[in-house]
Amino acid sequence: MKTLQSNTYQIFFENSIQQLGDFITNGNYSKILFLVDTNTGEHCMPLVKAALPNLTEFDIIEIDPGEENKNIDFCIGIWKMMLDFKADRNSLLINLGGGVITDIGGFAASTFKRGIDFVQVPTTLLSQVDASVGGKTGIDMDQVKNVIGTFTQPKAVFIEPEFLKTLSGRQIVSGFAEIIKHGLIYDEALFSSLKTIQPQEVNPEIIFRSIEIKNEVVSADPYEKGLRKILNFGHTIGHAIESYSLKHDKDPLLHGEAIAIGFICESYLSVKYNGLGESDLKEIEGCIFNHYPKYRLEASFEDLLSIMHNDKKNQDGKINFSLLKSIGDCGIDSFCSEEDIRESLEYYKALPVGKV
Ligand SMILES: NC(=O)c1ccc[n+]([C@@H]2O[C@H](COP(=O)([O-])OP(=O)(O)OC[C@H]3O[C@@H](n4cnc5c(N)ncnc54)[C@H](O)[C@@H]3O)[C@@H](O)[C@H]2O)c1
Ligand SMILES: [Zn+2]
Repeated sequence: MKTLQSNTYQIFFENSIQQLGDFITNGNYSKILFLVDTNTGEHCMPLVKAALPNLTEFDIIEIDPGEENKNIDFCIGIWKMMLDFKADRNSLLINLGGGVITDIGGFAASTFKRGIDFVQVPTTLLSQVDASVGGKTGIDMDQVKNVIGTFTQPKAVFIEPEFLKTLSGRQIVSGFAEIIKHGLIYDEALFSSLKTIQPQEVNPEIIFRSIEIKNEVVSADPYEKGLRKILNFGHTIGHAIESYSLKHDKDPLLHGEAIAIGFICESYLSVKYNGLGESDLKEIEGCIFNHYPKYRLEASFEDLLSIMHNDKKNQDGKINFSLLKSIGDCGIDSFCSEEDIRESLEYYKALPVGKV
C-alpha cells in the first residue's frame, strides 16, 4: 500500500479497501451509503464485501451507468434515495464507480443538507488517474459538460487497481488518454514511457505516477486560479466534441476518446501560439493514432464553437486554452482566435487515417 497526501485528505493506493474499512470504523458515521451504477454494483461491490466481511450495516443507491445520466434528474433521484434511507449530516456517501459516479456522487453529497462527508473509490482507469482526485464535483446540463458543480474535497480516496480487471478494453483505452495528458503537460519521461506500451499493459507504477502528477497540481492550486488549468489541455475542444457526440452519435465517444482528438487540435494550436515544435506535434499525433482511430468529425464549426463559448474557463467571451510549450511543459491562458480554432479542427479532419 502507498499513500499520497493531498491538501486535506489522503489518497490510499493498492490494498486500499482495507483502509476504507478502517476509515468507516474510525469515522463513527450514523449511516453508510454506497453509490454505484449497475456495472459497479455487479463487478466492484462484491470485491468490497469480500474485503470487508464485517461491514454489514450499509445501504446501496444504484443508478444506470453512463455520461447521459450525469444530470440533475439522476441527482434528484440520489437525493431522494438519501432521504428515503434517512441520511443525516453525519452520514457518509461512498462513491464506488467511474468518473460519472465520483462526479455526481460528490456533487450530491456536497449539496445534501449543505454537505455531508463523501469518499471516492474510483473503479475505472480514468477515474483512478484523474476524476477521483482534486475535489471537482459536478453534473452536465443540456449540452454543456460539468457546468453545474462544486469544489468539494472528499474525505479520502481509495484507489484499487484490482477493480480494473473487469473493465472493458475500450474503457481502459479511454482512461489511458488522461495518463498521456499527464505526461504531455508535466512529465516528458512519463510520456516517453507510454510510447512503448499498449493501454492494457498499464501497470500500477504508471497509474501511481499519474495520480501523483494530478495530486501535485491540484494541491498547489485547488481552485484553479493558475497552475491547475494545465489539466485542461485538450479539453476545450475535446469537451465540445464529446458533448456534440453525446447528443448526435449512436455510439458516442468516451471522454478519453474525445480529449485525444482535443490533444491533436490543441497541439496544433500550441505550435501556433506557444512555440511547440512541429516534430513534437507529429510525435503526439503518432501516439494518439496508435491507440485512437480517426473520428469522423461531422459537427459544424459553428456547433462546436457555440459549445466552446460555454466553457467555464472563458473570460470576457474569449475562449481559453491551456497549450503546450513543449512535451512535458504546458502554459495557461492562451486565447485563440476563432479562425485558428477552425483551422485546428480542419487540420485534424485532413490528417491521413491511421498511423501517422
Ligand atoms: N472531476 C474531475 O476532476 C474529472 C476529471 C476527469 C474526468 N471527469 C469525468 O469523469 C467522467 C468519465 O469517467 P469514466 O470514464 O470513469 O466513465 P464512467 O463512470 O461512465 O465509467 C465507464 C463505464 O465503466 C463501467 N465501470 C466502471 N467501473 C467498472 C469496473 N471496475 N468494471 C466494469 N465496468 C465498470 C461504468 O458502469 C460505465 O459503464 C466524465 O463525466 C468526466 O467529465 C471528472
Ligand atoms: Zn478529462
